[in-house]
This record gives sequence, structure tokens and C-alpha cells, in this order.
Amino acid sequence: MEQLTIIRPACREKRKEKRLSTILEGSTSGLSCEVINTIEELEQADLRNKRILFAVSLGVSGINLELYAMLKKIRTTEDMFEGSVAGIIVDGDSELYTKSTARDVVFSANLQGCTFVGRPLVEGTGSLENYNIIARNLATDHLNAYIQSGHQLVKRVKEYRYTKKDRARLLVLHASNVAHSNTLLLWSLVRKKLWEAVGPLIEIEEISLLNGEVYDCIGCPYETCRHFGENQKCFYGGVIVDRVYPGILKCDGLLMLCPNYNDAIGANLAAFVNRLTALFRSNDFSDKRIFSIIVSGYSGGDIVAQQLISGINMNKAFVLPPKFALIETANNPKSVLKIPGIEEHAGDLANRIIQYI
Ligand SMILES: Cc1cc2nc3c(=O)[nH]c(=O)nc-3n(C[C@H](O)[C@H](O)[C@H](O)COP(=O)(O)O)c2cc1C
Repeated sequence: MEQLTIIRPACREKRKEKRLSTILEGSTSGLSCEVINTIEELEQADLRNKRILFAVSLGVSGINLELYAMLKKIRTTEDMFEGSVAGIIVDGDSELYTKSTARDVVFSANLQGCTFVGRPLVEGTGSLENYNIIARNLATDHLNAYIQSGHQLVKRVKEYRYTKKDRARLLVLHASNVAHSNTLLLWSLVRKKLWEAVGPLIEIEEISLLNGEVYDCIGCPYETCRHFGENQKCFYGGVIVDRVYPGILKCDGLLMLCPNYNDAIGANLAAFVNRLTALFRSNDFSDKRIFSIIVSGYSGGDIVAQQLISGINMNKAFVLPPKFALIETANNPKSVLKIPGIEEHAGDLANRIIQYI
């Protein structure tokens, strides 16, 4: 049986390790596991082509020093996780930091070739209040809901397989100005590379949300939202319901073109992510992949990428394929094409889309 590798940075607050140990016992019982606790062990390990569970406990500060040593190693080791598939459990001692820590780990490992399954995060906040709904649905207490969520995650990580189609569909969403957007220009380059490599074998649908009067989610009650979603609808209609929902249901991969606007994705794209909730409630997205092109004028591409990781991979269950985002910095119109090596970077993203869609 394929082994599970658990990367569990040792936590100096031993008291804190107890709850994570309980979760891991419940999540991995009966499995053959290799456990990595220290930076020295991480440095010695071959983490390619593995099934991996990151398991992190955080004290009240939200800081686990061994994790930071590991992140440093991860960020500087090219293709460290090539061929590997992972999930992550983060156990906290307060209501803060579990998600931001998870995003950091997922982003850094993904840059080094790690795939993350859809909904790759199981987190326990200090109070475990984040299990309110799951515990109610499972008719159990919060701790047991946490254990069951961990168990399900490990199962998904162990069983994940890429499905490959002869003719794949890529949905491209943007909300940029065709006349000057660096992000759109970079997409044209990637699109050209895709066409040169596989021609019509990847069917591309592009939708602009720029002039579609995209209203943000109004926040309907759960039942109302689910009812709309079951009919492929949402409280508001418009381009999201008429074109984006059918596009999402058909596609194998979603490519989001994201200029950095105030260290976030733009408002129209954020509204799309929010309104995807209705469709998500009654459809399984766990075999769809998320890709992105992110361009910042100055800095912050990592923050934008992490927003997509939490919104689309962690919350909406899309798979995060290796190096899911092409992240560049360019300010003046069209200057993205002057970045050294940009043709190669665009070709690399095109190849990853071809390989993983
Ligand atoms: C409203 C707005 C906010 C922006 N905020 C940021 C920012 O926070 N950080 C940054 O690096 N660039 C920022 N930029 C610059 C864009 O990221 C930059 O122009 C880049 O080329 C991508 O945008 P484009 O595809 O529209 O050209 C901002 C641009 C606009 C129009």
C-alpha cells in the first residue's frame, strides 16, 4: 500500500500537540505512515511522487518555529514536491492564523510542484466553533466532526488521480481592459503557446466580466442559495448565471486572469467567486482545476495567489495543480512582454495546463 508522508513540524508547546495527535490518530489509523518532524528530517527526505499530509499545530501566537524553518527550505528547493499530492491539517489555539498559515504552506509547496486536492484544508480553531455546521450535519460533537473531516481528507489525498480527457475545456475569466491590460497581454501569449502545442485539442471559452454589471453575492439564507444553485441560478441573473455558470459546469479547467488591484483580485472577479457559492452547493467541482495569471504593478502577487487558493481551492474544492499560477510584475502598459524569459514562462504555464487539465 502506498505510504502516507506526514510533515508535522514539532511544536514547542507540547500541550498543543495533544489535540493534533488525536486528530491524526483518527485520520490515519491503519495506514503506513512516514513522519517528518524536524527541518533536518525534511532536508534528508525525498518528497517527490508522494502522498503528503502537512499537519501543523499552532500556539496562541500562531507561530510554529519549526514550520518556518521548513518553509524556508521548501521555498528554496526547486521542484521539491514534483509528482506529489497533498492536504493539510492546521490545529490552532485561538480563532486566528489557522487559515493564513495553511495558505502560506499550500502556496509555497504548490510553487515547488505539489498538487493539492480540492478542499485540502482541515482546520481546528481554538474553540472548534468552526465545526458548528459540520457537527450538526453529522449529528455529532465538534471534536468528532474534526476527526471525521481529517479522515475524509486523508482518504481524498490517498485516492486522488488526475483524469485526462482527449479534448479538454478551459474556461478563461477576466475583467480587464483589452486595450491596455498587461494581464490580458500575457494571456494572449499563453493562448498562442497552447495553440501551437495542441491546437483545438483544448477548447477555450473566454468570458469578460468587465461590462456585465456583475453584482456581488447578496447573502441569501443557506436553503435559498441551495435552491437557486440546484437550478443553476442565483438571486441575481446576468452574465454570471447566463454564461459563467454553464461555462463552469462544462469546463475541466478554470483560468482566472488577475491583475493585482490593491493586493487582491479585482471586484468583478471577487463577485464571481462569491456567487460561485450557489452553484457549488449542488455541484461537485473536485475534478476541475484552477489556474491563474497574476500581474502586479509593484508587488504582492503571492497575496493574490493565496486569495485564489482559499477562495477556489480551499472553499470551492477545485484541484490546485502544480505551480497553478504564472505570477509576474509589470506596470507600464505592454511592459509585461519585456520581462526577461517571459516567452518561456508563458510556455511553461501552457504546458502545465496541457499536462494537468
Ligand atoms: C485600481 C488599481 C489598483 C492597483 N493596485 C495595485 C497594488 O496594490 N499592487 C500592485 O503591485 N499593483 C497594483 N496595481 C497595478 C496593476 O497591478 C498593474 O497595472 C499590472 O500591470 C496589472 O494590471 P493590468 O493587467 O490592468 O495592466 C493597481 C492598478 C489598479 C488600476
